[in-house]
Amino acid sequence: MFETRVIDDVAKPAFYRELCRQLDALLQGERDPIANAANTSALLFHLMPQLNWAGFYFLHGSELVLGPFQGKPACVRIPVGQGVCGTAVARRQSIVVADVHAFPGHIACDAASRSELVVPLLRQEILLGVLDLDSPLPGRFDDDDRTGIERVAALYIAYSKRS
Ligand code: SME
Repeated sequence: MFETRVIDDVAKPAFYRELCRQLDALLQGERDPIANAANTSALLFHLMPQLNWAGFYFLHGSELVLGPFQGKPACVRIPVGQGVCGTAVARRQSIVVADVHAFPGHIACDAASRSELVVPLLRQEILLGVLDLDSPLPGRFDDDDRTGIERVAALYIAYSKRS
């Protein structure tokens, strides 16, 4: 059985190197996109400090549909262009929100959320969905987190077969 190892309070680049090493070991040999999304969200939620939600939304037509996640139950469907997730899809780029209350149209799934990081899942030019992290701490995510989670998203895409 794979065991997650809590990462000590180290500098973020080192933290993400270790996180990606563990993710690589976790996804090794498995190509099912749902199983891999489930294990990726569990690893993120249990290794990253100060998170209250970590999970996937997958693009179906013009809306995002909830995928595997860890945290409180969340809104199931988000139209492209709405909320932080739908905006990241429309822009096809990652979004770091230091204060969700200041983001116009932010969708509050868990009232505890104060900051958010959303990274698009891109296979070459095709957008498959987003990876979404929420924190109860304002300003929890910075550029190192964006880069680190973009690497996590790339690893997830590399391991999971086309669906
Ligand atoms: N806050 C997101 C919605 C998803 S939840 O945070 C899990 C948004 O504004 O798109």
